Amino acid sequence: MIKTKLTEMLGIKHPIIQAGMGPYNTMKLSAAVANAGGLGIISSIGMGVVALGFKPLFGFENLTPREQMLSSIEKVKELTKTSQGIFGINVPVAAEFQSVAGELINAALEARETDSEVAKRLKVIITSAGNPEPYVESIKESGAYHFHVVPSPYHAKKVEKMGTDLVIASGHEGGGHVAYDPVHTMVLLPEVVRSVKIPVVGAGGFCDGATLAAALALGAVGIQMGTRFIATKESDFLPNYKNFVRDINDVRNTVVAKGLFGNLRYLKNPAVLKMLELAKSGAPEEEQIKFEIESLEAIEAGDIENSAMPGGEVAGRIKDIPSVKELIETIVKEAEEIIRVKLPKLAV
Ligand SMILES: Cc1cc2nc3c(=O)[nH]c(=O)nc-3n(C[C@H](O)[C@H](O)[C@H](O)COP(=O)(O)O)c2cc1C
Repeated sequence: MIKTKLTEMLGIKHPIIQAGMGPYNTMKLSAAVANAGGLGIISSIGMGVVALGFKPLFGFENLTPREQMLSSIEKVKELTKTSQGIFGINVPVAAEFQSVAGELINAALEARETDSEVAKRLKVIITSAGNPEPYVESIKESGAYHFHVVPSPYHAKKVEKMGTDLVIASGHEGGGHVAYDPVHTMVLLPEVVRSVKIPVVGAGGFCDGATLAAALALGAVGIQMGTRFIATKESDFLPNYKNFVRDINDVRNTVVAKGLFGNLRYLKNPAVLKMLELAKSGAPEEEQIKFEIESLEAIEAGDIENSAMPGGEVAGRIKDIPSVKELIETIVKEAEEIIRVKLPKLAV
């Protein structure tokens, strides 16, 4: 077992957070992670985009963000009943998403208020990609923890002042949204740790016991993993997306391109190269958005060739599709071995 401030704070077994990964709601994945003793996270981008006027994809229905959030929380609560697993939600608070972010967060607070089982086990609201200030007070008043994803020590200090309980320092090698300034985990994480008094979790590039041990050595209290969790048996992603992650086999095979809400890191394939080309040629904004929507539809249809699939550099290090429990237990066992046996031998 590895005991850190994160495991103590949340009453979880392992210091591992599953990253929010829209456009899926990651319901099955979050339940599997919570059942395995990590922190499972329900993702909400797909719930919000319907309210922004896009057609529902990835199994979402034509419901309001509040209804979608309440129904996802209810399902994850049921799926984790036996293990009494701990879970949370991720809500991006980017300017373009602000109009629905409040509704999604309020729905989670409403579920905590009206259902004692949810209050006991939905312990964390993780915001990302923007300014969380309008929400921190109500989250904390409800008794939930507020975590925020940051790309720099500057942003970490800013949210610490707002009363945020923990920051997730997200390096540029990570999949999905990345900051404009390309600071990677090795430099970002220890500098965020040095800059704030609240606990820090590392994100971007984590996938195994060695990287978990490295995060702890750099002062983190745990890791958040996105790409590694895509390639698991229980993840909500389609089999050929999972296989694509497993088969990439080269850490150079990602690119950063402009997406709907800022820059995203994608797995390299013909669709992403076309997306880059469109941006480079100065194609009109509507054409770029249309291309991105079509590529999301292609992901949903399992058409890998035409899908722009978010994913991190670490995809090049992923070689299998284990169950979530197997993955988490292997990571922790490897990290324990490194900390307890391998590293002490080096200090002579
Ligand atoms: C497919 C995909 C979708 C993502 N969607 C979101 C999201 O909805 N909200 C968010 O805060 N981060 C999102 N991210 C970023 C992750 O939360 C996480 O920080 C990142 O994956 C960590 O780096 P890693 O991929 O190297 O593990 C996404 C990442 C991926 C790969």
